[in-house]
Amino acid sequence: MAASKYLKFSVSQLFLSSLLVFHALGFPQRRLKSVEIIREINSKGPYLGLITVYSLEEDAFFSTGYFQPDSRHPFLDLSGRRFRVGKLQGKEVIYVRCGVGMVNAAAATQQMLDLFDIRGLIHFGISGNLNSSMNIGDVVIPNQFVNTGLWDWLKPTAEVSKNDFANLEFKEYNVPRGGNSSLGMIVYRAEQFYSESGEADTAQRMLWFNVTSNWLQLASALQGLELDKCVNSSLCLENKPKVVLGMKASTANIFLDNGAYRNFLFQTFGVSSADMESTAVVMTSLSNGFPVIVIRGLSDLAGAQKGHNSINLFGSLAASNVAKVVLKFINLLPNRFCRHS
Ligand SMILES: *[C@@H]1O[C@H](CO)[C@@H](O)[C@H](O)[C@H]1NC(C)=O
Ligand SMILES: *[C@@H]1O[C@H](CO)[C@@H](O)[C@H](O)[C@H]1NC(C)=O
Ligand SMILES: *[C@@H]1O[C@H](CO)[C@@H](O)[C@H](O)[C@H]1NC(C)=O
Ligand SMILES: *[C@@H]1O[C@H](CO)[C@@H](O)[C@H](O)[C@H]1NC(C)=O
Repeated sequence: MAASKYLKFSVSQLFLSSLLVFHALGFPQRRLKSVEIIREINSKGPYLGLITVYSLEEDAFFSTGYFQPDSRHPFLDLSGRRFRVGKLQGKEVIYVRCGVGMVNAAAATQQMLDLFDIRGLIHFGISGNLNSSMNIGDVVIPNQFVNTGLWDWLKPTAEVSKNDFANLEFKEYNVPRGGNSSLGMIVYRAEQFYSESGEADTAQRMLWFNVTSNWLQLASALQGLELDKCVNSSLCLENKPKVVLGMKASTANIFLDNGAYRNFLFQTFGVSSADMESTAVVMTSLSNGFPVIVIRGLSDLAGAQKGHNSINLFGSLAASNVAKVVLKFINLLPNRFCRHS
């Protein structure tokens, strides 16, 4: 690359130009090819970052027909994921499907924030319903997230440390009741939260991660939005679905389809939904100081149902209602806004 090219870089591209400098220092060639494309993509930013988890959610999103791919760089593949670049309702967006679980969610989020010029993140998809006062099909926009997958797994006779909280003793769940369980108990830990606004290498113990409050306030205008009730002419939800705002939600690397554990989570943490990615996206966004909101449609009862899990019946309906809510939310966002506002 000619030296004169460096001169064209703007200040906001300093980060990427420093990557180019790495070239001379042995920055891997296969990465370098992407750097020039990323620079061009970023010249049209800033973008809203959109993150889903799997194909059902992605299909629902793209089938709205609103996403207009960028003509020059419609996508860029990085680390095995396709980052799609385009416009939605007149706003620049970069979309990625992260894959199931917290590792995928955190990795895709960090990559999105590091490489692209992002204003904030909208994470969306489906989730399990833990709150019996809510219904399958409802679209939730939670306020707070907790990782319920960070455990100490202890002996039956262990003493619970004061850093842990919320213990689940397996023997309490024996059927019939009574006796012991050699599985002992699990107790829950808070996350170690690192952030740009904190001191380097100094983690804060944090249990709850809040989404960005102005975005949540903005989203409150979506309550009352008309959502679809029917999958097709013969399969409909019992209740008219609605947008529900401001509750607590949980994430773990566990697909939850167990009524007893569902009730434990609801009673212990007061969480209304369970998924496998959201807390990772929110925590990573907050670490990096970016606005973030999560929109998830309740597709099933997470194990409280009588027969089969309803994710296969109502997952696609929940996902298409979510896509609808996401589009409306993007509409509500101002065209340009300050990243840290
Ligand atoms: C359960 O374990 C405790 C402690 O080891 C023991 O004292 C008790 O007898 C056990 N109870 C049963 C029903 O096995
Ligand atoms: C997160 O939200 C809760 C509930 O609204 C609030 O009590 C708490 O202070 C918030 N935490 C932070 C760090 O803003
Ligand atoms: C409606 O969807 C359900 C679930 O996918 C399917 O079993 C049923 O055959 C569909 N009915 C019609 C009329 O398409
Ligand atoms: C469960 O859902 C109902 C209805 O949305 C809500 O009023 C209630 O606060 C929720 N419970 C918890 C613990 O969040």
